[in-house]
Amino acid sequence: MALRPDELSVLVLHGPNLNLLGNREPEIYGAETLREIDALVIAEAADLGASVRSLQSNHEGELIDALHAAADQGVHGVLFNLAGLSHTSIALRDAITAISVPCVEVHISNVFAREPFRHRLLTAGACVGSISGFGAASYTLGLRALIGYLRTRNAE
Ligand code: DQA
Repeated sequence: MALRPDELSVLVLHGPNLNLLGNREPEIYGAETLREIDALVIAEAADLGASVRSLQSNHEGELIDALHAAADQGVHGVLFNLAGLSHTSIALRDAITAISVPCVEVHISNVFAREPFRHRLLTAGACVGSISGFGAASYTLGLRALIGYLRTRNAE
């Protein structure tokens, strides 16, 4: 049975240091603030008939708790940029595989065109897919991909 689009609820998680967007290395991460990125995602979600809640945290455990809560609360999908933790956190990867809520990972910069330590993404392999390198548009592209995936899966 297909879900109606307005039944889709998406959690957006932003990891460490993303609260500094706008000021943080704008030549890499662009001029948009996190608030502006959230506004873009909310507008895109409204277009797609989904509702979005967003959370930024600089703490790994808080992000893990948010993933657990998403599963408990029946959130349909999670869009996240786990920032530096994408490269290091086995605990976040384990949380993603533990919850069985579809996740899409995004990165503002093209991590594969940067330092070698950014080429390894521990969390992306536990996701439905990932998007990297399109600036703030990585989030809206990721949201479209996630919602497309959820609709297709629920129509099957
Ligand atoms: C980032 C890329 C990461 O390597 C980095 O640690 C970040 C931001 C991005 O969105 O491009 O904090 O996730």
